[in-house]
Amino acid sequence: MQSVGVIGAGQMGAGIAQVSAQAGYHVLLADVSKERADAGKSGIAAQLARAVSKEKITAEVADQTLARIETIEGPSAMGKCGLIIEAATEREEIKRAIFAEVGKVLGTTAVLASNTSSIPITRLAQATPDAKRFIGVHFFNPVPVMGLIEIIRGLATSDETVTLIETYAAALGKQVVRANDAPGFIVNRILMPMLNEACFALGEGVATIRDIDLACQLGLNHPMGPLTLADFIGLDTCLEITRVLFEGTGDPKFRPAPLLVKYVEAGWYGRKAGRGFYDYSGAEPVPTR
Ligand code: CAA
Repeated sequence: MQSVGVIGAGQMGAGIAQVSAQAGYHVLLADVSKERADAGKSGIAAQLARAVSKEKITAEVADQTLARIETIEGPSAMGKCGLIIEAATEREEIKRAIFAEVGKVLGTTAVLASNTSSIPITRLAQATPDAKRFIGVHFFNPVPVMGLIEIIRGLATSDETVTLIETYAAALGKQVVRANDAPGFIVNRILMPMLNEACFALGEGVATIRDIDLACQLGLNHPMGPLTLADFIGLDTCLEITRVLFEGTGDPKFRPAPLLVKYVEAGWYGRKAGRGFYDYSGAEPVPTR
């Protein structure tokens, strides 16, 4: 396999395109418009420039990596890709519409993967051209830094499809874990209740934003406190995944914290919105409570 198609040039899609190109794959990076795909590539260029300035990679390697990334509008030119990864917005109807487009061009042996963080793979597979060649590949943010890929097979996913993804993950230098197609898979099943609980603690007045985050950073050695991490992931995404856990298991222990719901209703989605538990309008994030 030489070419990888990535659909969605946002935070995750751009990260996946970057690490794929760094591993030597030719990458077709698509979004709803060429401009959006170009914006994703500009972000990658900035990341690579940062790595060059820190002397992590040479300018030549950065240039070669960028040259391997071609931006396009939509997936129609991805017919030669051995692997197409969908990393679009976490909304099922959007993903289904993309799979219908991919169905028109997917090669006869190519694999289609979704970076969904929570939608069941077996259900999504029904909208794809071939359920045997469909799989979940869950990357973590920031993709160039995080060493893990969760692989989720649907009921019909073939062994060949799993092998192709394992080979690809190895080329990227990522470790793989295999999860069953259960709500939240492994990481989010464990992470989201913690972030949700931090929202309950804040809402119940247990402590301030600063102290909840500092407690987990210094008391648990977490790189980010839970409220900072929730802002980083996006509070809308955290709520979406928590709802999948709640509805998928029927277990009340996963019920979303009222404060998390309120923040999302307010449009305070976290870092990407400029406001979440922290205010990002200045040079440094400032806790809002
Ligand atoms: N892209 C690429 N590299 C990045 C980056 C980005 N967006 N952000 C930071 N880095 C790199 C930096 O260049 C730096 O690299 P070097 O050590 O090689 O110089 C390194 O990461 C550390 O960065 P900083 O010194 O700037 O900052 P930090 O030490 O505070 O680390 C962090 C930043 C790596 C993000 C760290 O805080 C961290 O690991 N946080 C937790 C992230 C996490 O839990 N992610 C998973 C979220 S869950 C998810 O993604 C799944 C889901 O479905 C919701």
